[in-house]
Amino acid sequence: MPKKERYMLTSALPYANGPIHLGHLAGAYLPGDIFARYCRLKKRDVLYICGSDEHGVPIMLRARKEGVSPQQIVDRFHEMIKSSFERFGMSFDYYGRTSSPVHHQTSQEIFRTLAEKNVFVLKSEKQLYDPEARMFLADRFVRGVCPHCDYEDAYGDQCESCGTSLSPLDLINPRSAITNAVPVLKKTTHWYMPLAEFQPKLEKWIAGHPEWRSNVLGQIQSWFKNGLKDRAITRDLPWGVPLPEDVARKAGVDAEGKVLYVWFDAPIGYISATKEWAIRQGDPERWKPYWQDKDTKLIHFIGKDNIVFHCLIFPAVLMAHGDYVLPANVPANEFLNLEGNKLSTSRNYAVWLDDYLEKFEPDSLRYALAINMPETRDADFSWQEFQARHNNELADALGNFVNRSFTFIKKYFDGALPPAGDPDELDRQLLAQIETTRNQMAVLLDNFQFKEAAKTMMSLARFANKYFNDKEPWRTRKENPGVCATTLNLCVQTIHALAVLMNPILPFSSAKIWKMLQLPGTPDQANWDQIGREKLPAGHQLGELEILFRKLEDEVIQKEIERLRKAQEETSPEKPAPEYLSFEDFQKVQLRTARVIAAEAIPKARKLLKLQIDLGNEKRQIVAGLAEHYQPEELVGKTVVVVANLQPATIRGVESQGMLLAVKDDKKLVLITPEDATAPGREVS
Ligand code: 2FM
Ligand code: ZN
Repeated sequence: MPKKERYMLTSALPYANGPIHLGHLAGAYLPGDIFARYCRLKKRDVLYICGSDEHGVPIMLRARKEGVSPQQIVDRFHEMIKSSFERFGMSFDYYGRTSSPVHHQTSQEIFRTLAEKNVFVLKSEKQLYDPEARMFLADRFVRGVCPHCDYEDAYGDQCESCGTSLSPLDLINPRSAITNAVPVLKKTTHWYMPLAEFQPKLEKWIAGHPEWRSNVLGQIQSWFKNGLKDRAITRDLPWGVPLPEDVARKAGVDAEGKVLYVWFDAPIGYISATKEWAIRQGDPERWKPYWQDKDTKLIHFIGKDNIVFHCLIFPAVLMAHGDYVLPANVPANEFLNLEGNKLSTSRNYAVWLDDYLEKFEPDSLRYALAINMPETRDADFSWQEFQARHNNELADALGNFVNRSFTFIKKYFDGALPPAGDPDELDRQLLAQIETTRNQMAVLLDNFQFKEAAKTMMSLARFANKYFNDKEPWRTRKENPGVCATTLNLCVQTIHALAVLMNPILPFSSAKIWKMLQLPGTPDQANWDQIGREKLPAGHQLGELEILFRKLEDEVIQKEIERLRKAQEETSPEKPAPEYLSFEDFQKVQLRTARVIAAEAIPKARKLLKLQIDLGNEKRQIVAGLAEHYQPEELVGKTVVVVANLQPATIRGVESQGMLLAVKDDKKLVLITPEDATAPGREVS
């Protein structure tokens, strides 16, 4: 027997500080589960691991806000997330947590090995410190103005508005997220992963994976292009995996109050959860082949915001260690929007899994998300589309086909599978379609094209439903019983095939059909390669009919739409009514044409340009936010429109004596220029 292919599959460890929503499911969980289920049907040696990410500043912030310990927060959400995943049908072989002793030990061991190999660089630097809370302000403990887009509430690790990764010292006007105090600078020592040094090795490794999704490769290339920067992988925080004391001692640093950075320990959580799985199997060494045998295919299912960690930082750690396999693929998904708007957990603009499961079936959501998966671009979830997919595809095509075939056999054949005679052209087409569906879906799933795989599965259901119509068994029953028997036999063979084909996407419905067909075991134990080949024998007795999908009424869906609309309204700042400007006031604004004589960048102000302009009878200097839209040399010689009597202001230390007019075209700025080149200094009215 050929050796089984070994797959180590992971889905991003969710932070244990809030419930799961649809965005999470579409990004990292549903695709991982579909793939894991498919691999099991293909009889591969597969292990699917996930768990709670229980460290990091947001968890500490939530604990502080609620006046409880971080442990209490993670205990609560770990259980909540684990249970809702189960109800959604996530088939993890093990769901771990990063506060576990095995995880702490594993993370410390890997850190220690890298320290012993002298991989890290130690840097002593001044960092932001909250004098009131008496603690260093790492990551999200500090907020301030983003230096790239001027967003006022950027976090110390990232600007949520423009997506740029930041470090606390990048923020303008920083303030403590705990006390609102203005931080002071205090010296501290940290361990850095010298990513710049790893860049050539990482580039070479990534070059060997042209088959990865282009959006993933695109993001990686842009990190490479900007040059990887060394990353601090320790923090001064009271919550996390403690910095190993022996390592600190050797470096002459006090380990007290220092922990490993959450993004250093979280991906190691995949390894430690595998170890815990092995212990539970009674064979503690069994985790090793999954992580250390070069034939293992390690695949990380994540959302696009996690690409840098899974494709560059974690692989660099694994490379530096030397004993581990590197990911074979990281099929990261893009984002899922909701009714045309960005999902927001803080504004409760989301569909929460727990809430969903109280009202609807897991399979309906699994299907709606799979067939609309944000694989190569952002996708949108709308309740109306969800309803349409459920009613028209799951209920009217798939469910109806199963239902009418069963009812017919129950009524006219006493529930026993009638024998198949010689197939005619249409029968052969149906049988061929089963084969094609099996083969096409296998290729699609192996290439992480879940959306197309779901469509292919549904095409078979539609084809079969049409087959039933075209064969008119209600007519042939009297006119040609042999043909009628063949039709119904093939319908049941198709239902059997569909039960396995749909299993990765619709596991609950697949299990229902299995039971209705009175087949032994469960559909998860079926063999993908036998789909359409293993036929149910004539005379096989069918079980009780169960309705697979009940139609969803408009009212139920409207309620959900309404809830989201309210959430959106309540949290969007009310727009003040437009204030009218009197003509006299407008006349005060002096608009003039001007010619740009010189333009240059302003150091450390990525968005700004310093322009010298000719206003006809005088020269002026203007600072304008054009650097991302124009090259300085493009501007020289242009005739523009300026507000000539604006009060001068100092922007980033440079005086600005006026303002240019430009049109905001989506995110781009386009300067207003008179159609015909006019002399500078002319009045604009
Ligand atoms: O973005 C997140 O939700 C992280 N908790 C994902 C961690 S993935 C892995 F590295 F653990
Ligand atoms: Zn920003």
